[in-house]
Amino acid sequence: MSVGFIELDQATLRYPRSETPAVVDISLSVPSGGSVALVGPSGCGKSSVLRLIAGLETATGGRVTVGGGAPGAARGAVGVAFQKSTMLDWRTVLDNVLLPLEVVSGPTGFRARRAEYRERALALLARLGLGEYAHRYPWEMSGGMQQRASLCRALIHEPDLLLLDEPFAALDAFTREDLWGLVQSIWQERRPTTVLVTHDLREAVYLADTVYVFSKGPGRIVHREAIDLPRPRTVEGTFEPAFVEYVQRLRGHIVEVRETDADKEPAHG
Ligand SMILES: Nc1ncnc2c1ncn2[C@@H]1O[C@H](COP(=O)(O)OP(=O)(O)O)[C@@H](O)[C@H]1O
Ligand SMILES: [Mg+2]
Repeated sequence: MSVGFIELDQATLRYPRSETPAVVDISLSVPSGGSVALVGPSGCGKSSVLRLIAGLETATGGRVTVGGGAPGAARGAVGVAFQKSTMLDWRTVLDNVLLPLEVVSGPTGFRARRAEYRERALALLARLGLGEYAHRYPWEMSGGMQQRASLCRALIHEPDLLLLDEPFAALDAFTREDLWGLVQSIWQERRPTTVLVTHDLREAVYLADTVYVFSKGPGRIVHREAIDLPRPRTVEGTFEPAFVEYVQRLRGHIVEVRETDADKEPAHG
């Protein structure tokens, strides 16, 4: 049996001052270089699972391993982009994007390679349509631009592990679809093991090899769908029957989760 790069074995997380756990018995395995998406109603614990994988929270039950060890052990090898931009306001966009390289290389190593890193960061910013904004400050940019800058920062050090928490939420539909293609091509080039949290089922089917559907809180995995569509996937392809069928099937599971929940409500008083 092959062991995944990310392994969750019946992982449960109960936050310190909460009565009920955020997620219960989460078992999932992501092979090295694989790409999975987590979908489900809000509050079902998707971000909590990302936090477990990032090592920002520790499972209160079960086991979580990343690269065979404790999550968060290899700090530099992780790229993270969250829904809310976490850019530092006193640094330019370029200096924000360079931050992971500073962390990975250390001060001396970073100074020695600063020119090369700068070029790399400027090229990536240009690829994400932010070439002209490198020397601006985060607070001078729209939410969508900040999200794209966060994505640059998540990718710049070519991490082995990429954790994306609704990274495209603040973007208009067209920009979002452009970025699906971009993230897919970067993924195909470098194959970071990727976990994407999203509300958008088309986005999940476009980007992931496997989609996990979560029930409402406390979150459990209620369905796992392997997406057997050729790559590279395209926006045009999202309108083809095979693609639409996946989206509808996932939608059916989400509807089921929400209905089951509504049925339970009277019993809870
Ligand atoms: N730091 C925290 N402390 C206590 N409860 C939390 C914390 N973060 C999230 N929760 C709770 O855990 C549950 C799952 O939240 P979250 O993982 O953010 O869900 P999702 O990302 O699917 O919307 C929610 O009930 C939320 O209120
Ligand atoms: Mg969330």
